[in-house]
Amino acid sequence: MKFCILMGSPRKNGNTAEVCKHFMEALKESGVETVYITLDDKSILPCRGCFACQNVAGQYGCVQKDDVQSIVDEIISSDVVVFATPIYTWYCTPSMKALLDRHFGLNKFYGEADGSLWAGKNIALITTNGYDEEYGAGPFRDGIVRLCEHSKLHYRGMYSVRDVDDLASFQTPEAISGARMFAQKLLDECV
Ligand SMILES: Cc1cc2nc3c(=O)[nH]c(=O)nc-3n(C[C@H](O)[C@H](O)[C@H](O)COP(=O)(O)O)c2cc1C
Repeated sequence: MKFCILMGSPRKNGNTAEVCKHFMEALKESGVETVYITLDDKSILPCRGCFACQNVAGQYGCVQKDDVQSIVDEIISSDVVVFATPIYTWYCTPSMKALLDRHFGLNKFYGEADGSLWAGKNIALITTNGYDEEYGAGPFRDGIVRLCEHSKLHYRGMYSVRDVDDLASFQTPEAISGARMFAQKLLDECV
């Protein structure tokens, strides 16, 4: 089993990264292969809406030359993809949103090509948010649930921690055990 964690915060050692750290410690203790990608280290151009990818069968097929093909390769070779992001203005960060829009080439729904390159993958969310989980992260969760329905992915849930005291909020025993339990839940559900 392989996990791909896509971390969307520009703060590489910030709150979301802290949650991911504890989440990944539990995965690594279980011997699971884990890839961690900080999106801010990558070039992720916005989708141009050209639909060229929709006419390329069996491959991602985006005409843009950036790092998204390498991220897509990691997604395709993983069983569980975790989108980890701070909530920015009721959704995700710009790098995460750009990557989410670039999912287009994984679904061949609108052109000559047919099928999906990622149907059946397990999708999970990690969010950190200033507001409480439902008010702060609910809109992002709902968007991803719809993306999963649209793309025939298995939505496996969200672990959300509220920022009340910056990094310290994510280093409490409760926050750490929550991250570890979420990892264990995914391990149990996604075998
Ligand atoms: C530009 C910006 C927008 C934000 N918008 C929201 C928001 O809409 N809802 C919310 O709950 N928190 C919001 N927050 C708070 C962050 O989600 C929170 O502080 C988070 O833990 C930061 O994570 P990071 O350290 O990984 O970047 C926002 C923070 C910033 C900087």
